[in-house]
Amino acid sequence: MRRRRIYEGKGKVLFEGPEPGTLVQYFKDDATAFNNKKTGTITGKGVLNNRISEFIMSRLNDIGVPTHFMRRLNMREQLVREVEILPIEVVVRNVAAGSFAKRFGLDEGGRLPRSIIEYYYKSDALDDPLVTEEHITAMGWAATQDLDEIMQMALRVNDFLQGLFVGCGLSLVDFKLEFGRLWEDEEMRLVLADEISPDSCRLWDVESGERMDKDRFRRDLGGVEEAYQEVARRLGVLPEAGPLDLKGPKTVQ
Ligand code: TMP
Ligand code: ASP
Repeated sequence: MRRRRIYEGKGKVLFEGPEPGTLVQYFKDDATAFNNKKTGTITGKGVLNNRISEFIMSRLNDIGVPTHFMRRLNMREQLVREVEILPIEVVVRNVAAGSFAKRFGLDEGGRLPRSIIEYYYKSDALDDPLVTEEHITAMGWAATQDLDEIMQMALRVNDFLQGLFVGCGLSLVDFKLEFGRLWEDEEMRLVLADEISPDSCRLWDVESGERMDKDRFRRDLGGVEEAYQEVARRLGVLPEAGPLDLKGPKTVQ
């Protein structure tokens, strides 16, 4: 049976799920950066991000952070709750890097005096501009109360992830979260959605400082596949058959 394709993004496809209110999230090997200006393939990325995101979202569910994640279905797919995604990317930063370092003329690698949360408006056409709480509330993308909740959840995720990664010899430099609205009998809840993986995090090896994330692709550093595999291995979620298994089912039905 052909499933209805609900949405195709840069790294994932969403299909209609088996029950109302559910979706199947399919992880592709496609990689994009700089808002689609650079495109490529990272072999096995979809399989690894599916596992890595499953692992992290499950741990977050365990500690009471609500997420859209229900369960992993197969190599490249997971079952998630259907939510209404807010048009905002929430970035948490612990160390100066990427656009933050560039914006303020800083060298990458300096630890920030405290964790900083930033919001970006999701729009490829506009290059995801940085926006303030004022913009978000005035444009009706989220209410002040939503943002308070989002900020609390983002900081909680940051605390948890920093600990998790440092235990694997990785420093969590920064990461991006997306949130969605979930309705249950007239009640609205905000839940963590999308994925958490080396596509959406900066992870630096604690010992060598080596980048173990999508910056290897963005900056043509080589060893992209190996970095994703190493993150999965350190988290204990590398598929048993190893790299041979990473191509997974090629077709999206
Ligand atoms: P930035 O330094 O480019 O603003 O990125 C900050 C973090 O957010 C980094 O870990 C990469 C992640 N990110 C995404 O996952 N998607 C995006 O569209 C952007 C801009 C950043
Ligand atoms: N703007 C993001 C980047 O620089 C887009 C993405 O993550 O695909 O990588």
